[in-house]
Amino acid sequence: MSPVEFSGSRFMPFAATDIAHSVDVLYAFLMIASFISCVLVIGGLIVFAMKYRRRSENDKTPYISHNTTAEFLWSFIPFVIFMVAFVWGWKVYYDLRKFPADSLEVTVVAKKWAWDFIYKNGRRVSKEFYVPVDQPVKMVMTSEDVLHSFYVPAFRNKQDVIPGRYTRLWFKAHTEGSYNIFCTEYCGDQHSGMLAKVHVVSREKYDEWLAAEPYKGLTQAQIGQKLYQGVCIACHSLDGTKMTGPTFKGIWGREEKIVGVGPIVVDENYLRESIVNPAAKIVEGYPAGVMPAFPHLSEEEILGLIEFMKTVK
Ligand code: CUA
Repeated sequence: MSPVEFSGSRFMPFAATDIAHSVDVLYAFLMIASFISCVLVIGGLIVFAMKYRRRSENDKTPYISHNTTAEFLWSFIPFVIFMVAFVWGWKVYYDLRKFPADSLEVTVVAKKWAWDFIYKNGRRVSKEFYVPVDQPVKMVMTSEDVLHSFYVPAFRNKQDVIPGRYTRLWFKAHTEGSYNIFCTEYCGDQHSGMLAKVHVVSREKYDEWLAAEPYKGLTQAQIGQKLYQGVCIACHSLDGTKMTGPTFKGIWGREEKIVGVGPIVVDENYLRESIVNPAAKIVEGYPAGVMPAFPHLSEEEILGLIEFMKTVK
């Protein structure tokens, strides 16, 4: 099932949690109440303007001091509607912020322009993560650089992610599927591309995924290739095409001109530094500060990437 599919409603994305549904119902109430009020106010304005318009020079405006019944009604009815909206909204918000004690905790680290998800067992993944269905999940979130905002439309839940501080959000998805995650705080020129996915799967599938060794049976270069296809491919070509970053074609042993340093020959240490701390050495003709750092890659993964780059000739 695609999370962008509108299921059951022409106006709302699929609601994958109970709270998402209660948000939709409250939202529908507010929309309908606003629409009816708008019709009554604007309709009344038009009807009265026509009915009581001045018809001749001799028309006199009648003197009306007040009408207690009308004044009471036009105050009391809106008061009741506003109180309903207040109490109802407070209840939904309270549910959104009341963290169940038995939550699965996942840490989120945001940075320009990617989401990382860290599990208690040390598993760290980028771009997509897995949670079991019908399980309360608590996201503990922070940012490495600027303000971001973690937003899952299918959960109707959004929370700012702030450097130097932890913010939280929780959800309990009742339907298996893959749901989009957006960044909803402008955080730089690739803000709109700061996407991720949450996969809601069965408990068995989740346990299997969490325990899986992602690189079992792969050679070093195959590990690198797998990582390349997941991340690097967006900016580094294999066929010599100039993209956001230098091509990997023939990169091993190539002489690169480094801004402020001069020519260097690409070796293991240069590649390692460029993965872990890309800002350290910028190749001439390429923008600085575009590539995010990948300090969380294991040595196995970094070596895999280096071995893979050696094979791209
Ligand atoms: Cu991160 Cu916008």
